[in-house]
Amino acid sequence: MSACGSSDSGSPDGGAGNTPAALEGVGPISFVTGKDLSGNLQNQIDEWNKSHPDQQATLIELPEDADAQRQQFVQNAQTQSDAYTVLNLDVIWTAEFAANQWVEQLPESEFPLDKLLPTTVETAKYFDKLYGVPVDSDGGLLYYRKDLLDAAGLTPPTTWAELTDACGKIQPTNPGLQCYAGQFEKYEGLTVNFSEAVNSAGGVVVGEDGKPNVNTPEAKKGLDFLVEGVKSGQIPAAARTYKEEEGRRAFQAGELLFHRQWPYQYAKASATDGSSQVAGKFAVAPLPGLDGPGASTLGGHNYAVSKFAKNKKSAVDFIKFLVGEDQQRANLEKTSKAPTWAALYDDPALVEKFPYLVELKKSIEKAEKRPAVVKYQEVSTAIQSAVYDAMGGTTSSEDALKSLQGKLEELTKQ
Ligand code: GLC
Repeated sequence: MSACGSSDSGSPDGGAGNTPAALEGVGPISFVTGKDLSGNLQNQIDEWNKSHPDQQATLIELPEDADAQRQQFVQNAQTQSDAYTVLNLDVIWTAEFAANQWVEQLPESEFPLDKLLPTTVETAKYFDKLYGVPVDSDGGLLYYRKDLLDAAGLTPPTTWAELTDACGKIQPTNPGLQCYAGQFEKYEGLTVNFSEAVNSAGGVVVGEDGKPNVNTPEAKKGLDFLVEGVKSGQIPAAARTYKEEEGRRAFQAGELLFHRQWPYQYAKASATDGSSQVAGKFAVAPLPGLDGPGASTLGGHNYAVSKFAKNKKSAVDFIKFLVGEDQQRANLEKTSKAPTWAALYDDPALVEKFPYLVELKKSIEKAEKRPAVVKYQEVSTAIQSAVYDAMGGTTSSEDALKSLQGKLEELTKQ
């Protein structure tokens, strides 16, 4: 679906043209973000602070769960508080924040947008205007236990049937090892995992035309992969309480053969300080699908400037600092998070250290976007409920999709 929010009417600023208001004011700022899973943000801020004594940035961390983060960002905007200056916004919130005029339109010429992966820049636009700068991207990857697959003479699965087959061969000799997990708690991560399953079976949740189309045989095959997974035990019951971090801990404890996860896990699971039981034993592959490789949902974050903040010139400069090639390279090296700076994916030294960069770039470039609509949170909440109930066995896949289609039609109608 296009990033211009085809199901929303009207331009957020009444069509005032493409020149944003000047962003002025120099002084202290805050940088507000969901829980920093990488652990490197404070270091980046310290670096900025060293060279900007009069424009000190303070880190404010919100919860890990994307829905809970949004709630705090919305609350701050609704009270027009100046406590938050630079907002680390999930790619799914651009339409809502732009339409409500909670964030400033940004001057494109101030940022190196032509150096960034184009698909990430699209996520920061609303009615063709820029409201954020993509600083990290995200694509789903299949983490797998290479040691165990190698020992069984298997290559990483490209289809769900191969994944099931691998579990059947490897689990019997590895007591306690679970087959597969993703982010299956009832929150944004479930919307991502469901969308990937549907797309990987040839279906769509919301089509290119902005219309929901989820009551289809293809979408059902996608949902059934998750539902049947729980029923058969291929997906352990505990995985229905996993967000990113719970799953990561299970993978690092050696409890999972396969894990759908974002790139940040690569560095953490590779740690050799004793925190990971699987360092050197795993690798990553593209997500599998029904008949062949699957499709990832596009994740990532854009840095935006709150309408209600002071010191907006400092905010712009701070974003310029973080989006720059040097910061992005250093951040990738330390955290394995997906950069938006395109050339880093083709840098031989980085590719040697992070071999999955080649696949990750392809996966981000062709990743499916979640619908760019102002009521995105309501859309996602409807998806989460339907999928959570179907995976819990209280609704059939068929009924869940039928009723979800009705709700999505209501939420996205013109
Ligand atoms: C990651 C992604 C984000 C997504 C979230 C879901 O943070 O970057 O786009 O919404 O996970 O849990």
